[in-house]
Amino acid sequence: MLSSILKLYLAFLFFWKVKLVAASINPIEIHEQHFYDSVTGEPFFIKGVDYQPGGSSDVTSNRDPLSNAKICARDVFLFQKLGINTIRVYSISPDLDHDECMTMMAAAGIYLILDVNSPLENQHLNRYEPWTTYNEGYLEHVFKVVEQFSHYNNTLGFFAGNEIINDGQSARRCPPYIRAVVNDIKQYIQAYSPRTIPVGYSAADDLKYRIPLSQYLECHDENHPDSSIDFYGVNSYQWCGPQTIQSSGYDQLVDAYKQFSKPVFFSEFGCNTFRPRSFEEVEALYSESMINTFSGGLVYEFTEEPNEYGLVKMSDDNSAQILQDFVNLQGRFANIESKEFQMIRKNAVSLMASAPLPTCEDKYENLQVDATVAGGIAKNLLKTGVDQKKGRYLNLEESVYSSDYEIHDVNGKSFESPRRISIVHKIEGSEPEVRHRNQSQETESSSTVSPRPNDDKKDTVKQNEAISLKYSLTSVISWCLGSICLIVSLMLF
Ligand SMILES: *[C@@H]1O[C@H](CO)[C@@H](O)[C@H](O)[C@H]1NC(C)=O
Ligand SMILES: *[C@@H]1O[C@H](CO)[C@@H](O)[C@H](O)[C@H]1NC(C)=O
Repeated sequence: MLSSILKLYLAFLFFWKVKLVAASINPIEIHEQHFYDSVTGEPFFIKGVDYQPGGSSDVTSNRDPLSNAKICARDVFLFQKLGINTIRVYSISPDLDHDECMTMMAAAGIYLILDVNSPLENQHLNRYEPWTTYNEGYLEHVFKVVEQFSHYNNTLGFFAGNEIINDGQSARRCPPYIRAVVNDIKQYIQAYSPRTIPVGYSAADDLKYRIPLSQYLECHDENHPDSSIDFYGVNSYQWCGPQTIQSSGYDQLVDAYKQFSKPVFFSEFGCNTFRPRSFEEVEALYSESMINTFSGGLVYEFTEEPNEYGLVKMSDDNSAQILQDFVNLQGRFANIESKEFQMIRKNAVSLMASAPLPTCEDKYENLQVDATVAGGIAKNLLKTGVDQKKGRYLNLEESVYSSDYEIHDVNGKSFESPRRISIVHKIEGSEPEVRHRNQSQETESSSTVSPRPNDDKKDTVKQNEAISLKYSLTSVISWCLGSICLIVSLMLF
């Protein structure tokens, strides 16, 4: 009797909590070697794709991968079909508005890992002469990206650099500059961001540098405690076609990072020498042998580009054609949601060891780490902050969540309309008015947010008040019921 009442009570609590959780998208945070949902405490494993439609250079002052709401509606719909929880974007322009796309992603339960650099001039470090590019103008770009995106709950982390070190010369010249940029970003976040967002680095698939670099970027430097990374991304294309954990060398990767004190994951993977790709490595990555060391990974890449790593082919009319790789990957991602794999992740939590944070050494194999970086470059910007519109969630009209563009399955058959994102989190915008479809079209052409007339504002305010009243009533009622159960069970006891 008693135990069943307790169970009932727990069920109520659970129900109550789940309701609250479902209402928002929770930030992800890091404890030791793993990512966690900061509210539920559940461990978080990255299951995602790299997203750079148009290729790495398709960022201009009026277009980037997260600036066009209609394209986002199409692609977020497909992200959900694929079964992912995270995307990585390599560059954005902080001068553009990303509120609509970020709201859609948040509503769909999808997180973003964002590189702060871009291929445009003075928006990245020059790997051979980093001293010429590590300056205030560069940092201003970086801080603007951070300022805009740190206001979204679904920003999972920032990459301070991607494959900056990829040969002997860059390995001799760049390491201290990477730590300097990490340091500046983390200090900016401490001063201006609403929460602590992790900052990491994504390493090239080169054994010579990948491991020593991870050790160098991880270590604790007494004089610059903010200059160590919070997580490490490994780009790995070593599993090609039919392989095993041993034959692919994944076992050596596990050995190399087992003692790493921060989360590690694949920031790019998916060798394409055998096509269509069958993605057998997905099950390996989330298996017992790897899940304690690797927090998942990102498949390279979502859209088909000339290098032929795509899952979906986009046409000039913005219609999308799903490729066989998409279907194969979708199947693998579905497999790792089976009871067996869920159990593996659950058990991984209890096995999660903590590795000590090493202090920095004077030397690291294949790297030169003693270059002196000019100090104080970030000083003024850290004092004043940057002039940048902060990102925020919007109250989007229902129709914005549907894709206007045609989507064809692998057999060429068209998905029937509405091709609608399924909303798993109810996102409350920071302002009461609803962003309409017509507005989002305006946004697309002008890239600015036009103010709404005031007339329909009042109605929406009322509506929102009604919604939040309804929510708080449900919580109060379930909370009361839960407490009654507890009291009754205590009395019986
Ligand atoms: C963002 O996360 C916080 C918890 O840290 C939560 O209180 C808030 O409701 C979330 N915001 C949205 C819009 O989901
Ligand atoms: C919105 O766009 C539709 C056509 O797409 C048009 O018929 C309608 O009048 C527009 N509404 C406003 C308020 O501009």
